[in-house]
Amino acid sequence: MGASEFCLSPSLLAADRLNLDQELKALEAAGAQRFHVDVMDGHFVPNLAFSPADVRAIARTTSLPLDVHLMTAPPRPFMEWFLETPATSITVHVETLEKDDALLHNIRAAGKEPGLALNPATPIEALWPWLPQVAHIVVMTVQPGFGGQTFQEEQLTKVTALNARRTSHKGAFQIHVDGGLDAHALALALRAGADVCVMGSALMKDGPPYEEKVKCFQQAALRLGHEQRYGEKG
Ligand code: DX5
Ligand code: ZN
Repeated sequence: MGASEFCLSPSLLAADRLNLDQELKALEAAGAQRFHVDVMDGHFVPNLAFSPADVRAIARTTSLPLDVHLMTAPPRPFMEWFLETPATSITVHVETLEKDDALLHNIRAAGKEPGLALNPATPIEALWPWLPQVAHIVVMTVQPGFGGQTFQEEQLTKVTALNARRTSHKGAFQIHVDGGLDAHALALALRAGADVCVMGSALMKDGPPYEEKVKCFQQAALRLGHEQRYGEKG
């Protein structure tokens, strides 16, 4: 995917929960291509978010793919609950996997796409043993647990490394970037090789409609693509 194209995945943590139906429709109308649904356990991260019942309700309103991001330890009981929902993918944190864990295999065997997320403090090497099994990696650009935090730009070195790795190893996984993305951060993430941009607060903090905001993000991505091709002054 080039720097001017991107897949927008709104993080529903930032949506107005009392008007989720309208939020989903407004985000879809503005060009969202999938939805990111955070799940927290109050233990791996100090917060709570969406439940399996929420995912079922969301799937009644939208037919877009639903990416469940499990911030839970241990992941297995949560994974099993969400296997029973219409989620498209289930992402677990690499920090929560046991050696030789069959979790990713179990997710795929149940017909869902397995993903792996990694915290800012986790070295990228932790992903290498699992890469052949995953449909996508979620590179955290904030400490997980809350929306609205500051983007950690240095985490993009992981995106660059993953992008290089999939080229050299003919890998098929996608790269998602999650946390603190605004127009500028989004453009940097795309330049580093991200495919899917998870966006919460920067997109939704003022409520719908979202068309103008998404256009701004697209323009930021386009500008960067142009600079890459023709140089800063082109
Ligand atoms: C953080 C979550 C993110 C978060 C993104 O724990 O995993 O998905 O909701 O929201 P923003 O874009 O506000 O950082
Ligand atoms: Zn998330």
